[in-house]
Amino acid sequence: MTETRTADIGKRAAAEAAVSLVRDGMMLGLGTGSTVAFVLEALARRIRAEGLTVAGVPTSEQTASRATALGIGLIDLASVAELDLAIDGADEVEEGSLCLIKGHGGALLREKIVATAARRFVVVVDESKVVARLGTRMSIPVEVVRFAHAATARRLERLAAPAVLRPGPDGAPFITDNGNLIYDLGSPGKSAEPIADPRALECDFNAIVGVVESGLFTHGVERAIVGDARGAVRTLTRQA
Ligand code: A5P
Repeated sequence: MTETRTADIGKRAAAEAAVSLVRDGMMLGLGTGSTVAFVLEALARRIRAEGLTVAGVPTSEQTASRATALGIGLIDLASVAELDLAIDGADEVEEGSLCLIKGHGGALLREKIVATAARRFVVVVDESKVVARLGTRMSIPVEVVRFAHAATARRLERLAAPAVLRPGPDGAPFITDNGNLIYDLGSPGKSAEPIADPRALECDFNAIVGVVESGLFTHGVERAIVGDARGAVRTLTRQA
């Protein structure tokens, strides 16, 4: 079986377990990415089979169009005080702290806004995303405004280098749904240093003028549901 196929079994299993937490009448946060695509499918199936009335706030244009195509009703976050449950994927989940790296799909800003607005934030991943320490496998995405972005990148590099401007599919810089750029920070790999203090680093990123938001999520994850290659799931809760 290919690596993608194996990961998909885990993603689907985690997605289905998370969607089983949805109750009639809930206001949901709908994340972004390939794991969330399975969440949307499972949610649409429950809506059809059980006649559930739910509404979701999408974290990206991609999720908005996928959800609409599947018949999932959408709402604007401005029209609700609080969401009941947000479900989203992640690029890395740190065992113990449940700190995350997110944003390799480019939707980190809206993802963080939606996660923060939810009473419960549940993360869905396959086994490959679970790490002992953040930052050794994946770079850290940081969304920055376009104005003087190279100067912002130089300041970011004092915290984690190198800062690489993310290209889009056509080779031109990737532009987020909010009209900004993304720098991917750090050289993940065997020799990379893990992030010693993700919470402090998240604050340091946000203190740099020109930074809109970082892909370090260090607060609020209730649980991470992890699916494996056999379709079994385990649930990680925060220990620290
Ligand atoms: C989107 O910006 C990301 O934060 C995704 O949630 C993350 O990249 C996980 O995506 P996959 O489920 O596609 O791996």
